[in-house]
This record gives sequence, structure tokens and C-alpha cells, in this order.
Amino acid sequence: MSITSSPSRTALSDARLLHDLEEVVERELNRHLRVFKEWMPHEYVPWGRGRDFDGPLGGEPWSPEQSPLTEVGRVSLVVNLLTEDNLPSYHHEIATLFGRDGAWGTWVHQWTAEEARHSIVLRDYLLASRAVDPAALERARMSHMRNGFVSDNGHSPLHTVAYVAFQELATRVSHRNTGHESGDPVCDRMLAQVANDENLHMVFYRNLLKAALELAPDQAMQAVAEVVTGFRMPGHGMPGFERAAARIALGGVYNLRIHHDDVLQPVLRHLRIMETAGLGPDGLRAQQQLGDHLDALTAQASRFDERRAALLARRAAAGGASEPRANGGGHDR
Ligand SMILES: [Fe+2]
Ligand SMILES: [Fe+2]
Repeated sequence: MSITSSPSRTALSDARLLHDLEEVVERELNRHLRVFKEWMPHEYVPWGRGRDFDGPLGGEPWSPEQSPLTEVGRVSLVVNLLTEDNLPSYHHEIATLFGRDGAWGTWVHQWTAEEARHSIVLRDYLLASRAVDPAALERARMSHMRNGFVSDNGHSPLHTVAYVAFQELATRVSHRNTGHESGDPVCDRMLAQVANDENLHMVFYRNLLKAALELAPDQAMQAVAEVVTGFRMPGHGMPGFERAAARIALGGVYNLRIHHDDVLQPVLRHLRIMETAGLGPDGLRAQQQLGDHLDALTAQASRFDERRAALLARRAAAGGASEPRANGGGHDR
């Protein structure tokens, strides 16, 4: 396959796009397998802090003071774990769309196996370190998985590639910042390892999106614009998500500022999306919509920064717990 801009403006079918991108998937899969380093989730879990719980073993019931985690660390770890827990739904969505054969299928299964490690290590950490109420966590998992997850982008491989390029980076940033804010160096180390996997996933999909932009620039630009303007985190359906998201935003783990500066912009800049030339009318319109949306988001993020700073200042003045980080992000760039 040679990746060149289609001289005609005829839209490529999904089947044609998947076929034409398969060579890139194979190349990126091989690159991924070369750079991915095996790691063992059990090595990151502080088993020495663990002991039997109440129930059939007659151990000690859970109570909040048993763990050193900050409040935002607990809230964020639960959201991140429940998000990882819905892997069967994500697998279903991408296996249905990308297929289970050839290079696409090999990637789908490799990615799924790597992602499963994340819920394993997160749950083992939370239970061994008695960080959260284990019964509440289990009930939340049941409720969340019973609902399943239906992708906003299941209608289109291009939209899905664009979405996951941003979403993997969002997950990386969320895990990394959760570790920084957790108050436990053991948790921070574990989440740095998980975040490293998410970064490699982001690079895979970002490189695939780059190839799609060369293969079908107008279609890919429209997909990027629609995905960015309608972006929602995959955990949005979980119980208590809105309240948890507000806490996570205030705590500097994930908010509008971080979404704009640390997730959208790095991918868009790397792909030189706003400088893409040679677009047809549909691509140009999408590029303009994307630019307008980013301008609006910048303004919203500034208003959020001001509200957050004022709220944290009021809390500090009242002698309440202030957040350890006053700025909105910028970690680990
Ligand atoms: Fe993950
Ligand atoms: Fe991932």
C-alpha cells in the first residue's frame, strides 16, 4: 500500500479503510511488541500490608483509616479501576469493528491482554492495602459491568481510531496524576507502570490516525473534529460518576485544563492537525469547527482554573484540607 492523499474526493468505505490500513497496523503492532517490556503486576502490590477481611475467614473489617491514601486518590483509583473493569465491553466493541483476523485481530487481542493487567494490579493494590471499602467496590463493579459500555463511535472505524488515540492518552494522564496525588509512593510507582502501557497504546493509535489522515484526509479530519467536540470519558456511565468527576477535577487529577493541555493538544500538535493542507470543502469545514471548539475550550479551561483557585483558597482560609497541587496539570510531559 502506498499512503497518498486520494486525488478524488470519493469517500472510502469502512471496509476499504480497514483493508488499506492493515499494513500500518502490522507495522505498528511489530513496533509496539519491540518496545513493550513485560512487567509483573504482583511485584507492584504491597502484599505485606494485607490481612484477612471479615466474612468466612473472620478477619478484620475494613475501615477508612487503614490506608494512607488521600481522598482524591481513593475516588480516582475507584473510577480508574471501574473504567478498566469494563474491558469485556471494550473488547467487544473493537473486535466487532476491527475484526479478529489478521494484524487487526492480533492487535485487538494483544491490547486486550495488556489492558487486563491494569484491573488486576489496581484491584490487588486496593484490596491488599485496604484502600477502599471492598464490598462497595465489588457492588460498584457489578453495577458498572451489568450496564456494559456502548461506544459513541461504534459506527465508524475512523472515529474509533481517533477516539482511542485521545482516550488512551487521557487514561495515561489520569493514572499518572492519580499516582502523584495518592499520598502513597507504592501507589504512585504502580500507576506509573500502568500509565506507561497507556502511553504505548496512545502511540499505536496516534500513528494509525496519522496514516488515516494521509490516506483519507477529509474523512479523517471530520472524524477527529467530531470525536474531539463530543469527547466523553469511557467511565461516564458508572454509578456516581458526576460527583467523582467533580472531585477528580478539583483535585487536579483530570479536568478541563488537563484535558486541553495534556491530552488534546499533544496529539493534535503531533499530527499537525491544524496545519493540514490540501483539504477539500468537508475537511476544511471540519478543521475550522475543530479550531473554534479548541478556542472555546481554552476559554472554558481558564474560567475553570479561576473557579478552582478561588475554591481552594477559600478552603485553605477556612482551615480545610487544601489540595497539594494548585496548578491544573503539566506532570510528566
Ligand atoms: Fe488500561
Ligand atoms: Fe490502554
